[in-house]
Amino acid sequence: MLPAAGEVPWRAVVNGTEKELAIESNAILLDVLRDKAGCLGAKRGCDMGTCGCCSVLIDGQPRLSCLTLAAEADGRDITTVEGLADGHHLHPIQQTFADYGGSQCGFCSPGFLVVISALLEENPTPSDPEIKSAIEGNLCRCTGYQQIVDSVRAASQILTSGGSIEDSTAPKSDPHPGFSEEGAS
Ligand code: FES
Ligand code: FES
Repeated sequence: MLPAAGEVPWRAVVNGTEKELAIESNAILLDVLRDKAGCLGAKRGCDMGTCGCCSVLIDGQPRLSCLTLAAEADGRDITTVEGLADGHHLHPIQQTFADYGGSQCGFCSPGFLVVISALLEENPTPSDPEIKSAIEGNLCRCTGYQQIVDSVRAASQILTSGGSIEDSTAPKSDPHPGFSEEGAS
């Protein structure tokens, strides 16, 4: 960590709300978001830039907040997973993650969701290779990724057709693979 030079003022729009904070000059953005801005959705996984759990959007672009100095985001627009929903309406990728099993334990989900929201904003109809390329920096130990890709396809359908999940023709993978009713106790 860089030596601190004391507290400095820091200002940013976080999930649509102006934040004015006093932070250590060498503070890491992930720490500021979690400890000072109340955005616990940004997760600390590896703290080394390899898992993607801490992904946030800065001016709409995905960034690893564990590798970003908060000072670099001063005056910028920051979006965490808490900022994806529109009031009580989930972002389509949040809804399809729930419906298609894109989230299992859920620890990686905030990072995936913000990265995918940026992908869909830029390209509402990504191909499978484009989806896989967009999420290559995000690790998930639970899903095997297929449910995540299916979720992105379904969200794309919703965004481009203005339709509902029922309208989606994307293949719906088993959200709980390996679990059978007979075997449940
Ligand atoms: S916590 Fe930032 S990449 Fe893993
Ligand atoms: S859902 Fe558990 S790590 Fe991705």
